[in-house]
Amino acid sequence: MPTITIHKGGELFAAEVKENSNLVVRAGIRQFPWPHLKYKCGMGNCGTCASRILKGGEHLPEPNWKERKLLGDGIEAGYRLCCQLWIREDLELTQDDVVLPSRLSVTLVTRAGKVISGPQNSNLLRLSIREKGGIPFKCGGGLCGTCRCKIEKGIENTDAVKDKERKHLTEAELAAGYRMACQTFLKGDVSVSWIPLEDRPPAVSAGSAAAASSGRRED
Ligand code: FES
Ligand code: FES
Repeated sequence: MPTITIHKGGELFAAEVKENSNLVVRAGIRQFPWPHLKYKCGMGNCGTCASRILKGGEHLPEPNWKERKLLGDGIEAGYRLCCQLWIREDLELTQDDVVLPSRLSVTLVTRAGKVISGPQNSNLLRLSIREKGGIPFKCGGGLCGTCRCKIEKGIENTDAVKDKERKHLTEAELAAGYRMACQTFLKGDVSVSWIPLEDRPPAVSAGSAAAASSGRRED
């Protein structure tokens, strides 16, 4: 049976658990690692059970999408969510000094204010794709202009405008908060809107193709 060792406040707590145990489930029924393990939702949503694995991490399965979403770069530093793990081998962990990476929110004005979230320095388009935000795109590389959007709030939380964006956006549009989502990285919360593809004018000539495919309105 695997032995679980918890480092907490300078003390060590250790006990055996049945093979294939989930530590949060066990703590929930008042078996070790209760009362030494912090947890809340048990579903990979809150991050309360985040732990730094000190030994035995090589026996754990690959982090799932919930762990990647909540822990971000912390995965590389050895952080895991106990509620997402079924333990088959000895494991040593601590929850002392665990700091989850801060996350940012994106309010999707065009999607009736749906809010998605991600780690700091997220690329706006990639975050939208991952969280099913719905920002239109085609190339993902700054070429097609499809991901044109307007940062309604929080423009100060976006990074510097790239040369590729200047091919699709005028200075006046940039000043008004327009960006290409695939070229924009976020440092904090933003609100974003865009013109849905079905509302964009069709491309009628080569000269207007860029404006049309970018959803550019002549207003
Ligand atoms: S208990 Fe909430 S994420 Fe594990
Ligand atoms: S998706 Fe093509 S420019 Fe952004």
